[in-house]
Amino acid sequence: MKKKIAIGSDHAGFQLKEKIKKFLNGLSYQVVDVGCHSEESCDYPDFGNKVALLVKKDEVQTGIVICGTGIGVSISANKIPRIRAALCLTKEMAELARRHNDANILALGARILPEDRIEEIIKTFLTTDFDGGRHIKRIEKIKLIEDNNLC
Ligand code: RB5
Repeated sequence: MKKKIAIGSDHAGFQLKEKIKKFLNGLSYQVVDVGCHSEESCDYPDFGNKVALLVKKDEVQTGIVICGTGIGVSISANKIPRIRAALCLTKEMAELARRHNDANILALGARILPEDRIEEIIKTFLTTDFDGGRHIKRIEKIKLIEDNNLC
């Protein structure tokens, strides 16, 4: 079955979102676009939240969120329990976000990232597995923070 990926952006990330959708379709992923649908000004929390809820409910396997810097969408997505959204500026960050943090959402900054780096960051994020091992207890500690209302 095709891997399902939710994608969302604000106006600053709209153009990049459209490019990434084509790229992912070419790689045979099934893309669920939660918006936005134009460059008209809108608010990044709306889209960070929509993608995060789809990931949390297991309706998609992973998510990509985009705004100007990637900061607003990652802050928003990370408000949802069980979401580990990682803002990645390099291929190395994407690899470690998966291997060490088991990140389930990739956040990108459309106004920050050099265009020629984006595809390798996405490919790396989507194809790298969690290392498990010593990293498991750290992920469990994040869950404890969520479950015991320590946040
Ligand atoms: C929109 O102008 C910009 O603030 C937003 O895309 C993002 O960079 C926020 O973190």
